[in-house]
Amino acid sequence: GRVGVLYGGRSAEREVSLMSGQGVHEALRGQGIDAHLFDTGRYTLVDLINAGFDRVFIALHGRHGEDGTLQGALELLGLPYTGSGPLASSLAMDKIMTKKVWLHEGLPTPAYAVLTADSDLDKVAAQLGLPLIIKPPHEGSTLGVTKVQALPELREAYELAARYDAQVLAEQFINGRELTVPVLGAGKSVRALPVIEIVAPGGNYDYEHKYVSNDTQYICPADLDAALTEQLLRIAEQSYVTLGCEGWGRADFMLDQSGRPWLLEMNTSPGMTSHSLVPMGAAAAGMSYAELCVAILSTASC
Ligand code: DAL
Ligand code: MG
Repeated sequence: GRVGVLYGGRSAEREVSLMSGQGVHEALRGQGIDAHLFDTGRYTLVDLINAGFDRVFIALHGRHGEDGTLQGALELLGLPYTGSGPLASSLAMDKIMTKKVWLHEGLPTPAYAVLTADSDLDKVAAQLGLPLIIKPPHEGSTLGVTKVQALPELREAYELAARYDAQVLAEQFINGRELTVPVLGAGKSVRALPVIEIVAPGGNYDYEHKYVSNDTQYICPADLDAALTEQLLRIAEQSYVTLGCEGWGRADFMLDQSGRPWLLEMNTSPGMTSHSLVPMGAAAAGMSYAELCVAILSTASC
């Protein structure tokens, strides 16, 4: 049947999603699947109903694509879709709620505070220490994120993040190596793919170094000892299962200088661009980009 590749959308990550969707669309067509691109930023839900898709591959990132709202609409329409359901999607889209769930389950995630317009920023800096990370809790691709090195920068960092979200996340900075682990499947069949290490110039893996420049290095499988690799894979799987994720996802970590892993966030509709990480993990496990797309599509449900 006809497969819709939902891409684009209207979130701040639209440009990334256009690249993800084009990659997925081309790969699925190459496998003989009758796939069609559908831009949810240009066409409405009514158009989607009329497009006559049997199932859809969600290649959207951010709001109204990755955050559970679209997933809820697809449930109501009875149209099978890839990835997590409404609850896991909306939990993972909120970095504060994600941390609460993980902490409740004993999973390691850096100390944090929630900032609003009347928060005492000096007090937060004293509590979490400097540097600290300021993030809008509902964004992706490092948009609105600042590493605050000194107290005078904190107000501006807060204001930037507050442009995206009413509540802002202040998080303890973990100095160390940046790692990520893709996860596939659901329930008992959940399995983590090989760990990827990201080595960005100056430790600055921001939007530019994610999608634009070619100076970020990726090492997959990451050069880690067997016990630590095993620990990372199990934590990634637990972090995914705990949130109720399905289909596919990607857990982002920092490894501190004593070799302890810290979970930063879960992505339920991760990037599928030519620079993206899930395809790298899949390749290291012997799965091509096209095979990965077909495998994710095969988990579509509602
Ligand atoms: N939010 C971007 C697309 C990612 O996680 O890959
Ligand atoms: Mg993210």
